[in-house]
Amino acid sequence: MRKTKKIPIAFPKLKIGIIGFGNIASGLAGGMVKKKLALPSQFMVYDIHHVRNDIAKNKFKFRVAKNYKDLCQNSELILLAVKPQNTSECLRRLKGLIKQHHLIISTITGVRTKDYQRVLGSKTRVIRTMPNTPVLIALGATVYFANKNCSDHDKHICERIFKSLGIIFETKKEIMLNAVTAISGSGPAFVYTYAHSVIESAVKLGLPRPLATELVYQTLIGATRMMSQMPIPVEDLIKQVTSKKGTTLAGLRVLHRKNFAKVIHSCMSAATRRAKQLSKVPVNNH
Ligand SMILES: NC(=O)c1ccc[n+]([C@@H]2O[C@H](COP(=O)([O-])OP(=O)(O)OC[C@H]3O[C@@H](n4cnc5c(N)ncnc54)[C@H](OP(=O)(O)O)[C@@H]3O)[C@@H](O)[C@H]2O)c1
Repeated sequence: MRKTKKIPIAFPKLKIGIIGFGNIASGLAGGMVKKKLALPSQFMVYDIHHVRNDIAKNKFKFRVAKNYKDLCQNSELILLAVKPQNTSECLRRLKGLIKQHHLIISTITGVRTKDYQRVLGSKTRVIRTMPNTPVLIALGATVYFANKNCSDHDKHICERIFKSLGIIFETKKEIMLNAVTAISGSGPAFVYTYAHSVIESAVKLGLPRPLATELVYQTLIGATRMMSQMPIPVEDLIKQVTSKKGTTLAGLRVLHRKNFAKVIHSCMSAATRRAKQLSKVPVNNH
C-alpha cells in the first residue's frame, strides 16, 4: 500500500489573532487550515457578535478571545477584517496593545497604513491587502502594500497566506489599491451583475430559467478559462467568435452603439473614486 505523504504545517509556531470574523476572515482562516499553513489551535478570534465567535469555536475549532487584550497577548500575526466604518472603534481598542512583535495584516477597504501607524504607533508593521470573495474557493485575487516597517519575512507570510487562496501581487504604491478595489475587490459583483442581466434576458427570450442559469455560468467559466489559458490577446478571442454578418457581430454592434466600454469605465471610475473617498475618512485617534 502506498503511503500518503504528510504535508508539514507551513507556520507551525505562528500565533494568529483575528479581529472581525465575517466573510473574508473566515474564508482566509478556513483556507489557511485547509492548505496546511496553520492548525486550528494556532488561531484566536474576536468578533463583536457572539454568533460569529460561536462559529469560530464550534465549526473552525478556534479559540475565542475574551477581549482585545487577550487576543493581542496571544497573537503575533493580527488579521484585521472589520468593515471600514468600524475601524476607528477597532483601532481605538487596539491602541496601546500593539507591540514590536506584532504584524498587522488588514483587509479593511480604504484605511491607509499611515492611519494604523498614527493610532497604533509609527513603528507598527502593517500590511494592507485588497482581496476579493473568491478567496473563499481558493480563486482569490489579492494585491498588498507593506509599510516600510515590514521585513521580507512579514511579506513572505502574507504572500503564503493569500497565495494558498489564489493569486497575490505586491504594489509599492499604496494609492494603487484604490483602483485594485474597483477592479478585483468589487469586481465579482460586477461580473454577477452581468450574469444576472444575461439570465433575465435569456428568460425574456423564452429559455427556462434553470437552463439559462446553467448556460450563463458555464459560458463564463469557459470564456474565463479561454482568456487565462489561450496564449492570444482577448481582442483575438473576440474575433474568433465573430464571423462576417453573423450573430456575434449583430450583438457586438449594439454594445458599441450603446458605448459599453464607456459604461464599464464609468463604473470602474466610480468605484475607484469611492475607494479614494473612503481612504480620506479620518480614523479617530481617541
Ligand atoms: N467582502 C468583500 O468582497 C471584500 C473584499 C475586499 C475587502 N473587503 C474588506 O474586508 C473587510 C471585511 O469584510 P467582510 O465582508 O468580511 O465583513 P463582514 O462579513 O461584515 O465581517 C466583519 C465582522 O466584524 C465584526 N465587527 C464589527 N466591528 C467590530 C469590532 N470593533 N471588533 C470586532 N469585530 C467587529 C462585524 O460585526 P457587524 O456585522 O456588527 O459589523 C462582522 O461580524 C471590510 O473592511 C471590507 O471592506 C471585503
